[in-house]
Amino acid sequence: MFSHTIIEPFRVRTVEPIRQTTRAERESALHQASYNVFRLDARDVLIDLLTDSGTGAMSANQWAAMMQSDESYAGARSFHRFRDAVANITHLTHVLPTHQGRAAERILFTAMVRAGDVVPNNTHFDTTRANVEDRGGIALDLPCAEGRDPELLHPFKGNMDVEALERALREHEGRVPLVMVTVTNNSGGGQPVSMANLRAVHEVCRRHGIPFFLDACRFAENAWFIKLREPGYADKTPFEIAREMFSLVDGCTMSAKKDGLANIGGFLALNDESIANRCRNNLILTEGFPTYGGLAGYDLEAIAVGLSEVLEPDYLRYRIRSVEYLAEKLQKVDVPILVPPGGHALYLDAKRFLPHVPQLEYPAWTLSCALYLEGGVRAAEIGTVMFGLQPDGNEVPARMELLRLAFPRRVYTQSHVDYLAEVIAYVRQRSHLLRGMRIVEQPPALRHFTARLAPLAPGFYAS
Ligand code: F0G
Repeated sequence: MFSHTIIEPFRVRTVEPIRQTTRAERESALHQASYNVFRLDARDVLIDLLTDSGTGAMSANQWAAMMQSDESYAGARSFHRFRDAVANITHLTHVLPTHQGRAAERILFTAMVRAGDVVPNNTHFDTTRANVEDRGGIALDLPCAEGRDPELLHPFKGNMDVEALERALREHEGRVPLVMVTVTNNSGGGQPVSMANLRAVHEVCRRHGIPFFLDACRFAENAWFIKLREPGYADKTPFEIAREMFSLVDGCTMSAKKDGLANIGGFLALNDESIANRCRNNLILTEGFPTYGGLAGYDLEAIAVGLSEVLEPDYLRYRIRSVEYLAEKLQKVDVPILVPPGGHALYLDAKRFLPHVPQLEYPAWTLSCALYLEGGVRAAEIGTVMFGLQPDGNEVPARMELLRLAFPRRVYTQSHVDYLAEVIAYVRQRSHLLRGMRIVEQPPALRHFTARLAPLAPGFYAS
């Protein structure tokens, strides 16, 4: 067969207009939004790469399944379909639907984490960290050494540092209620975790008698990377690989807004009956009856179908390739990116993009404002605004200073990506003109969502 462009493996039959704006309009919108792109109105955004969460396009099969949902309060047929779809992939015994991933985290940690406990993770996502800390726990990030260097090429930069995990378990003996691994490692650049690493963490946890959980939001993308990069997996299907990943854990939290291909939803799945019962009681208190967990029956249907579509090889090939395609374009014009490109997102390396902006003047955040201003592109900072504020109120520079361009699933086409590359290249040419930002107002936690900022040199933002 001839080698060909990897195309979108679908055709479009419903369209949603996106709106062009002028630079002056965007300048005013950005000012109104206090230089925080979370505060922008979506109608003022042309290409929205803020997140891949809940922003995907559903398939005709998902919509069809939704029409046939069972909205019974208890024991609905839609719950059974959902539970079977989750169990088919994970083989975990107890499946609890939740309205999204962070609800699964909160419910799990409420059952398992006490004040002073330590929860190791390859890298906590912001809501996961916040939920551990909300219980009075300590969220410990243990990424492998390769994962800390945005310029280093390595196939599995999402891996956990297993020796550091051993040390942590000895040091905090009796205070580690569970170990988590996030696949793919979102805050660490959308990087995958190898099966060998999952197996090693599984072994350590088993020896110490500590439950091992996956933060499984992007399990299918992780499975595809294992297929591409890990010896022995090239001939396995993504489904088989995903099954093997889940066979190594005692439970998982999941945001179905990512690899569930749904616009809302999530779940907690686990084997331990007594913990599952505690979680179920909490679920009833805060989310809803255990067979709907804060979701409509049609949401459960959409997830059930999504979990199967997300493992289709053609979909995953296109998905991973579209991020890589942007990476290749940007590397040709010397835009510094985190390598290799992630599964759901490409990360600009703001330390190298804006070397003249100190981290406490938020270079990645600055870049988010510049991309919006010049091209109507919205992206999310994963840097010092997101991670710099410590529970004690001190501020420290984040380990990596990244701007994440997250790709909604099945939404944008190759010409959108071409346009995006042009905007970034243009900002790159003008990057020496950019100065940093200061925070004018912020909440005590998860400040990036609502903080107000101001440019240190407003000139760039004036036409
Ligand atoms: N874990 C990871 C690794 C995530 O990326 C997210 C969400 C969550 C947990 C929480 O799930 O949003 O359904 O409550 N990440 C989104 C993002 C918000 O933009 O990366 P949720």
